[in-house]
Amino acid sequence: MTVNLSSRARNASPSATLAIAAVAKQMKADGIDVVDFGLGEPDFETPAHVKEAAIVAIREGFTRYTAASGIDELKKAIVTKLKRDNGLSYTPAEVIVSCGSKHSLFNIAEVLFESGDEVIVPAPYWVTYTEQIQLVDARPVIVQTREDEGFHLTRAALEPAITPKTKAILLNSPCNPTGAMIPPEQLRAIAALAVERDLLVISDEAYESMTYSGHTHMSIASLGEEVKQRTILVNTVSKAYAMTGWRIGYAAGPADIIKAMGTIQSQVTSNPTSIAQKAAVAALLGPHDDLITMVIEFDRRRRYLLNRLHTIPGITCTNPEGAFYLFPNVSSFYGAVANSGPIRNSAEMAAYLLQTANVVSVPGSEFGSDAHLRLSYATSMDSIRKGAERIERALGALRKG
Ligand SMILES: Cc1ncc(COP(=O)(O)O)c(C=O)c1O
Repeated sequence: MTVNLSSRARNASPSATLAIAAVAKQMKADGIDVVDFGLGEPDFETPAHVKEAAIVAIREGFTRYTAASGIDELKKAIVTKLKRDNGLSYTPAEVIVSCGSKHSLFNIAEVLFESGDEVIVPAPYWVTYTEQIQLVDARPVIVQTREDEGFHLTRAALEPAITPKTKAILLNSPCNPTGAMIPPEQLRAIAALAVERDLLVISDEAYESMTYSGHTHMSIASLGEEVKQRTILVNTVSKAYAMTGWRIGYAAGPADIIKAMGTIQSQVTSNPTSIAQKAAVAALLGPHDDLITMVIEFDRRRRYLLNRLHTIPGITCTNPEGAFYLFPNVSSFYGAVANSGPIRNSAEMAAYLLQTANVVSVPGSEFGSDAHLRLSYATSMDSIRKGAERIERALGALRKG
């Protein structure tokens, strides 16, 4: 029987980062000494007290369906966190817990966007945004940020992209893949723009706790009641608490939008895992020592890898303020011909590094920037050293070739 898949299914692209992770996993399973810069998750353990909370939840039989939009205890913990870390006041009715923030983001797309709507997405962007917007038949409008400006988003760059069809602006600061943060004065200007032009703001703050060199995160929703009323803030326990597999993310925003998201969620997934919700309460309200240790270590690795990349002729790389990625520009090597074939773009460069150096990276084309590769430093310092040497050697061979 020939199945006719829907045009939605035919047009959707699988998550490239997850696909690359699968290739790396297979290579490791085959005994190949792979250096994996592809990871989009901390290489740290979930904190012990968080695991313990989940174990207690299982022992106590907290294993049944919960309210579809999450338990009150977790919503209250999120309200506490948003007040404590972001200076924001929400009620539990303005909060929804989803199966990861990717799920929260999709709920948002489902309840807000439809055919004819435009959503502004600054590039380089996390792959999922454009895919999700297209899955609900809306149109992502890409606004480029510039490498020579540190990939910093500005009001001036956004403004010309606004049309009568624009429904929302999607912000991601710190950004995956560039690590760039929106400078505070620009964040204020963008908040004013959203208010002036009557636009919604979706603010993905997944990497808020991973910032370096004195930079600190500021949520756009904290810049005044007017912008807060039009912002849906999205966050997750995945990155800060090394809980990627637990699948707990959340959104906070106007109660009518959150309620609509809850309705969709109740028909699609029901509640996020009961046990993981208890673990998330412990993560948000418990000690943050593990997070502090992790960020110090990420910073050490970030500086090391950045310095190493800066010594490789032909590479340029901005100094990111947050997240755990570097986004080097490798386009000066395009046009080279390796034994494995020509290198004309980021996909061929990533394939070359994988084949000749056993180094996993993610092609920048996946993030709307073909000149770059994304390297995650959420891997051990030994791997980073080895990986940097291998990249240097592989790129050196191209220069000679
Ligand atoms: C910018 C950004 N937002 C959201 C997510 C989703 O995280 P989760 O669904 O695990 O909460 C990721 C994961 O890589 C991300 O990079």
